[in-house]
Amino acid sequence: MRAILLGLTEDADLPLVKVRLARLTAQSGNFKPMPQLKKSFHIKGRDFIRAGEASINVQNLLKSMDFDPRLIRRVAICGYESEMNVVMHGGDGTLSIEVDNDKLILEITDDGPGIEDIELAMQAGYSTANDDHREMGFGAGMGLPNMKKNSDQIQVESPPNDGTVVRMIFFIPDKGKSD
Ligand SMILES: Nc1ncnc2c1ncn2[C@@H]1O[C@H](COP(=O)(O)OP(=O)(O)OP(=O)(O)O)[C@@H](O)[C@H]1O
Ligand SMILES: [Mg+2]
Repeated sequence: MRAILLGLTEDADLPLVKVRLARLTAQSGNFKPMPQLKKSFHIKGRDFIRAGEASINVQNLLKSMDFDPRLIRRVAICGYESEMNVVMHGGDGTLSIEVDNDKLILEITDDGPGIEDIELAMQAGYSTANDDHREMGFGAGMGLPNMKKNSDQIQVESPPNDGTVVRMIFFIPDKGKSD
């Protein structure tokens, strides 16, 4: 059983039900390694019709894996904010979720113009949103601060002319919270 489950967990494209089974078995303390799952969803720049779909996919995936609704909510907020940033300010991009034994890792990359001053962009109220974005209700400059508030760790990288990567970590309560 152990060997079978270990084998199963190495394939990221497994049916969710098997991953779920492996997770529950691991939680029961029968064996150490937890399943790892990584899924990626495409984000299309400037596509406001489909904007939000990637983060909803992540939310549904975590729901199907029985994660705590409060944890899912925090990941969903961060997923949505970062996805909207790609759609508004970035280019085409990808939103990935990785399920680790003690944490969830949400990574959003895009091939847009990048962020010139990350420290400034992280400040509440700073926004370069245009009039069209503001008419849709965006542009308060609260997306990145909101991601910082709702994740346990956030890392933003934007090398010159090389897009943007936002990586957030969420510790799974009682299983690896480092405080
Ligand atoms: N992926 C990105 N590519 C390029 N610039 C970005 C990216 N994400 C954020 N920024 C820059 O950082 C600024 C702050 O982002 P933040 O999400 O905090 O606010 P906002 O998107 O302008 O407004 P809000 O999120 O409140 O609707 C943006 O206005 C933009 O200049
Ligand atoms: Mg934003």
